[in-house]
Amino acid sequence: MAGPIGVFDSGIGGLTVARSIKDHFPGEKLIYFGDTAHLPYGEKSREAIRTYSERISQFLLSQGCKVVVVACNSASSSAFDVVQEVCKGKAEVINVIDPMVQFVDQKFSGKKVGLIGTHRTIESAEYQNQLEHLASSVELISLATPLLVPMIEEGYYRNKISHEIIENYLSAELFSGIEALILACTHYPLIEDEIKEILGENVMVLGSPDILAKSLKIALNHQNSEGRDIQKDHFYVSDFTESFEHSTLKFFGEEIHLELMDLWS
Ligand code: DGL
Repeated sequence: MAGPIGVFDSGIGGLTVARSIKDHFPGEKLIYFGDTAHLPYGEKSREAIRTYSERISQFLLSQGCKVVVVACNSASSSAFDVVQEVCKGKAEVINVIDPMVQFVDQKFSGKKVGLIGTHRTIESAEYQNQLEHLASSVELISLATPLLVPMIEEGYYRNKISHEIIENYLSAELFSGIEALILACTHYPLIEDEIKEILGENVMVLGSPDILAKSLKIALNHQNSEGRDIQKDHFYVSDFTESFEHSTLKFFGEEIHLELMDLWS
């Protein structure tokens, strides 16, 4: 299949999704775009995220991508239709919300399920809207957990401080009786173990990177675009700092070279 897989996120966190794609599809090439000039998307308006996502999709198409993956939950919740419109007839588009909603609807019908994410993701109510669209009987309980992204970015995970912050959020009364928790953010795979430890084995913890892989497999089988072949993966950012480059180790499991690509000047 010709052409790379395009993946975009507000920054470096989406590398958790890129990692999972590489693990599931080792033969595929990636073009990653992290919009580090505009992060965090979780605190931005819907309109701003739509504008950024439109430009990034155009860039990924210009690189010959056959599939565009919206790895960012905040962008998936606010700009999926914009990305679809840009890519119409040229590349398939998948996001991190649809596969999760389908999975939860099938596995947890009639059950109570929790959801944590950024302000933008939770305010968009996109998970709830999609469950309603499916006439699902899942009872979804959502909570914005805005401290978690900066906490993880500053390296606070698997320690006492992160444990207390996560426990504080998850002990909210509204989560009592949940049977699963959706981790609706690129960064949360890094604290998945801590969350599992706090919630205990009766609550299933659902991360998007792995659930997305199934949708991507279908998209790769369906796609027929004549993308341009590339020899190696590329990881672009809209603003470069050494600290971004160092943090690739955390999110991708290996330090990778970031290339600056300014799409806005
Ligand atoms: N990538 C964002 C998400 O998954 C988290 C970081 C941000 O707010 O930009 O919602």
